Parts: sequence; C-alpha cells; structure tokens
Amino acid sequence: MRKNIVAGNWKMNTTLNEGVGLAKDVNEALKNVDAKCDVVICVPFTHLYPVAQVIDPAKLGLGAENCADHTKGAYTGEVSASMVVSTGATYVILGHSERRQYYGETAEILKQKVNLALENNLTPIFCIGEVLEQRENGTYLDVVKAQIEDALFDLSAEDFSKLVLAYEPVWAIGTGKTATDDQAQEMHAFIRKVIEDKYGKEVAENTSILYGGSCKPSNAKALFAKPDVDGGLIGGASLDAESFMGIVTAF
Ligand code: 13P
Repeated sequence: MRKNIVAGNWKMNTTLNEGVGLAKDVNEALKNVDAKCDVVICVPFTHLYPVAQVIDPAKLGLGAENCADHTKGAYTGEVSASMVVSTGATYVILGHSERRQYYGETAEILKQKVNLALENNLTPIFCIGEVLEQRENGTYLDVVKAQIEDALFDLSAEDFSKLVLAYEPVWAIGTGKTATDDQAQEMHAFIRKVIEDKYGKEVAENTSILYGGSCKPSNAKALFAKPDVDGGLIGGASLDAESFMGIVTAF
C-alpha cells in the first residue's frame, strides 16, 4: 500500500540557527501526536547535517531540495547525491518548478539527477505541474503527462516504484490560490492512470502522489480526503511548526 506523506519544502528560507530551531520544534511536536502519515522536512544543503543531529529519524524524515546531475568532480558550487546521503538525509526534491523555471532544469538533466539519487538510495520527490496558461488553455493534463514521460519513463518498474511524485500546479505555488480538491483529484487520478498504462496497476497503486501549492491547515483535510491525494508538499506553511503540524494532523 502506498504511504501518506507530508513533506515540508523550506526553499531558500531560514538561517542555520533558525532552521535547526524549526526542525527541533517539529520534532518535539511529533512526539505528542500519533501521525497518520510519514513526515519529512526538506531543507537547504547547509542545514542538512545539523538538522540530522536534532531529529528522530524514526519520526521525521530529512531531505535535500536538489542535488547535482553529476557524480563528483569539477562542478563548483554543486552538491552531489552522495554528499546529501552522507549528511543523514534520505529524500531529495527533484524537478521543482522553481528549479525548472529559474535554473533551466530540463528533462535530460532531471533524468541524470533521478538516476544519481536512486543509485545513492535517496528517495526522489519528483515534482510536476502546469503553469496557469496551460491550465486555462486546457493542455494541463498533456503537459503533466509529458513531464512524467520525458524524465521518468526510462526507469525500470523497480526503480520507478521508489519514487514519490508531487503534483504542484505552478499557479498555486506561493500564490495563496490552491487547486480545489476536485482539481487535485482529477490530476492525481490522471497521473496514476499514466503510471498504470506504463508500469501496471500494482506500481500505480503503490505510488504516493502528493499535492503542493498553497496547502495549509485550512484546506489540507479536504485535499487529503480525495482518494488519489496521498499527502502534501508544503512550502510557506512548513516554515512554522504549528501550521506544518496542522497539515500533518489533517490525516
Ligand atoms: P507553497 O506551499 O508556499 O505554495 O509552496 C508549494 C511548493 O512549492 C512546495 O514545493
């Protein structure tokens, strides 16, 4: 059975002290709840190792927000998948729309990153999603299908089943404009069908598909109640322990 997951994506926020404090707060809060989902925080590279020292890995997973598309060597400023693993992290967000949009990440680059993440036993949280224009002109399903096919469909079924997917409509990210629970369900069911057509029903049924984009405590319950929505990838609301926990406890 697929897992329910709530993952925070801190993006480029918090200094080291602030980040360690926030991780401690989330870790503490988790001691007092019987979470019905796996909980993960994805934090800036600088924070990975220090955060790993203050969280209980049995209760709170740790991930990076990106990794390099090369193994090692002369790539100044890059951080490899093996470096990420060496901090204690077990997840990595890949293909976030901000990376595609601002840093030119293409399907080819993302293929490399996914392969390297998997080789290093990191669980990729692979992001897909359309922009507003594509939502409005009705091409959004085709766009998302192509994003999945182009970056992921060279994987074996065994490797594909190690992925977590996150549907993040770009028009909903950081805008306060959430997809309705019906819009999310339509897309998540479609994504599951795309997976089923390629890898079969079992792989499709076992793939966790998270929703991301202005998810907050007030809308998480309705979103997570949808049969194909298996949790959330949370930006802004993950920067405050109380609001993040409000989403974790929406399951
Ligand atoms: P917000 O929750 O801030 O809209 O961000 C969503 C996101 O991009 C998570 O990866």
